[in-house]
Amino acid sequence: MNHIAILTSGGDAPGMNAAIRAVTRSALDQGMTVHGVMQGWQGLVDGQFRPLSARDVGGIIQVGGTFLGSARSPEFRTERGLSKALRNLAQHGIEGVVVIGGNGSQTGAHALSQLGVHVVGVASTIDNDLPGTDITIGCDTAINVTLGAIDHLRTTGSSHNRAFLVETMGRDCGYLAIMAGLAGGAEVISIPEFEVPASEIAQRLRAAYERGKTHAIVVIAEGVQESAAKVLAYFEGEQQRTGFELRATTLGHVVRGAPPSAFDRILATRLGVGAVKALSDGETGVLVGWQRNEVTRTKLADIVGRTKPVHTELLELARVLAK
Ligand code: F6P
Repeated sequence: MNHIAILTSGGDAPGMNAAIRAVTRSALDQGMTVHGVMQGWQGLVDGQFRPLSARDVGGIIQVGGTFLGSARSPEFRTERGLSKALRNLAQHGIEGVVVIGGNGSQTGAHALSQLGVHVVGVASTIDNDLPGTDITIGCDTAINVTLGAIDHLRTTGSSHNRAFLVETMGRDCGYLAIMAGLAGGAEVISIPEFEVPASEIAQRLRAAYERGKTHAIVVIAEGVQESAAKVLAYFEGEQQRTGFELRATTLGHVVRGAPPSAFDRILATRLGVGAVKALSDGETGVLVGWQRNEVTRTKLADIVGRTKPVHTELLELARVLAK
């Protein structure tokens, strides 16, 4: 294989740049030419390619986001869009494509591989909800940013006898909220897969208050029906129900844009190198992930349309340990 392309798609994740660097430099080392595709799938449809040299990917390992850009592309999902993408790949003599992204991106990768292009996916999303990998690029950093915010809120909460509702990302998946909540000693964790009603939040905060706690933390994932703001409004003027004065903080995209942790940089490096190895082994239609402490390949056909379930038993563990 002489020419490969690399693109990032979907929500950006800390460590994507480290993965681009690893793919580029390991492919160059094997004598391949590397083409960066700008703006994800849309760039493939529009033919927005740029050659990548070793120097082009210098100074990015520590930077969050993706310097190639990422964009949603409804056009890529159409027959016309796909054939434009195929034509652009052929024009540049590109035989293999590395797709760095989460569930939606790997669905696109699968569609492209069905048309005869050699495609290899790299597991990357802060949500860690992609099957075929124990962990995805970006989620360690996002957990740590959420945890940092929890720690800070807990400090000021203690000074003022307040409880904080902290909303983190995760529209469809509560992995981030569970892990940051567990590490941050949260009293309550509410996630789309297991939503805690406001009345129960009140009970658990009241119990914490009566146990003599000087602060309390409720971690809420973005995708729940009762957002942090709604829960706050629900308790407005009824401090006696929880004991604590309540405040809400929504973290939003702050958790996605941070510089990657050492863990994410190393994971991205291993998976990026693994993707180039998969292409040079003649593989196609696989996701390169990290399972049981090694780089693995899983058929994209077995992944698309599925999400990895969260360990909801950790919610009960967090409840017990918050006492
Ligand atoms: O999939 C990653 C993610 O950050 C989710 O946690 C979040 O719900 C979603 O993307 C937000 O997407 P957007 O940036 O398009 O609002």
